[in-house]
Amino acid sequence: TLITNIAALVTNDPSLGWGSPRSSKFESGGGSPLGLIQDAAVVIDGERIAWTGDQSKAPATDNRVDAGGRAVLPGFVDSHSHLVFAGDRTAEFNARMSGRAYSAGGIRTTVAATRAATDEELEANLTRYLREALRQGTTTFETKSGYGLTVEDEARALRIAARHTDEVTYLGAHIVSPDHAEDPAAYVALVTGEMLDACAPYARWIDVFCEKGAFDGDQARAILTAGRAKGLHPRIHANQLSYGPGVQLAVELDAASADHCTHLTDADVDALANSRTVATLLPGAEFSTRARWPDARRLLDAGVTVALSTDCNPGSSFTSSVPFCVALAVRDMGMTPDEAVWSATAGGARALRREDIGRLTPGAYADLALLDAPSHVHLAYRPGVPLVTGVWRRGVRVV
Ligand code: NIG
Ligand code: FE
Repeated sequence: TLITNIAALVTNDPSLGWGSPRSSKFESGGGSPLGLIQDAAVVIDGERIAWTGDQSKAPATDNRVDAGGRAVLPGFVDSHSHLVFAGDRTAEFNARMSGRAYSAGGIRTTVAATRAATDEELEANLTRYLREALRQGTTTFETKSGYGLTVEDEARALRIAARHTDEVTYLGAHIVSPDHAEDPAAYVALVTGEMLDACAPYARWIDVFCEKGAFDGDQARAILTAGRAKGLHPRIHANQLSYGPGVQLAVELDAASADHCTHLTDADVDALANSRTVATLLPGAEFSTRARWPDARRLLDAGVTVALSTDCNPGSSFTSSVPFCVALAVRDMGMTPDEAVWSATAGGARALRREDIGRLTPGAYADLALLDAPSHVHLAYRPGVPLVTGVWRRGVRVV
């Protein structure tokens, strides 16, 4: 397939630079990280990108798609979501919007509803939100357990998730299970023992909610280290609701990502800047909990690699829309539109330690989004407007 007549093509090819923003993580200096090509074409061969470049130089192919002078970018990589759940927390949201604070305790409501649901109900819910995300341009998503908190309920959440994505995360350590409220140490033993054994076969990643009211730094280290011994790679919910040890622990363990990063000291920022750990910012959560915004500008200026994701979950961030998160990040977190689009595509890929997605370069998966707009900047410039009008996943048009 040849997609031609693309007014602006985001490739995220660093060698095409005009290079990079202020971040030292990008090789060349100055300008945009997006490897933008104007009046471009893309050739898809099977599941992969075969060629990108100036449309006047495009090789001839039988199957032509006219992009109509619109923008094409890599499909979004949503590297943080919690989509295996049942139930609804409208009442909690309403209470929050009349002044009540968010607390991790609301997770218990979803745990009860998720345990009570059938496998079919959980899978139907998951596929509904995946479809919703796909229509908005998301072609890769990570998703987590964490609303089961028993051996059986965590394992079934991951089994269901693994039917839909390779990026599956074991989050038995979301909160201490209500069944173990009196004995958190026993719950940590379960999470690092029998539950881990049951869950590891379905997961690539292990995550922990490192926060007051959830798990402290020592518990989080024990949980992630146990997961690593079983072949899972660490990522952490870190520094979301308060300052704490999560970010430093993420760096210490070479976690792929420290997620949220809302409350950071200068030492936390330095640690991230001198590591491979990506800071994944989740502005849907700050939006839906009326919390202060993570400071993306501070991270980028320090040279930290930033990803943007939805955190889609029924409690703190019930949005599946990466474009919405891009708009928030630009409006309220100090990102330029180029940086936000990079973070939602190439940044997400780095947060999942993937080279084959988040870019439109030869050999990468042909995962791409066509916007009903002449440039990717419109994602932030036209907030709330459903601009994604075509989506290809693994070379197949799905929207
Ligand atoms: O990433 N922070 C912990 N977990 C989720 C919220 C889960 C919930 O409230 O149900 C988050 O925001
Ligand atoms: Fe989360």
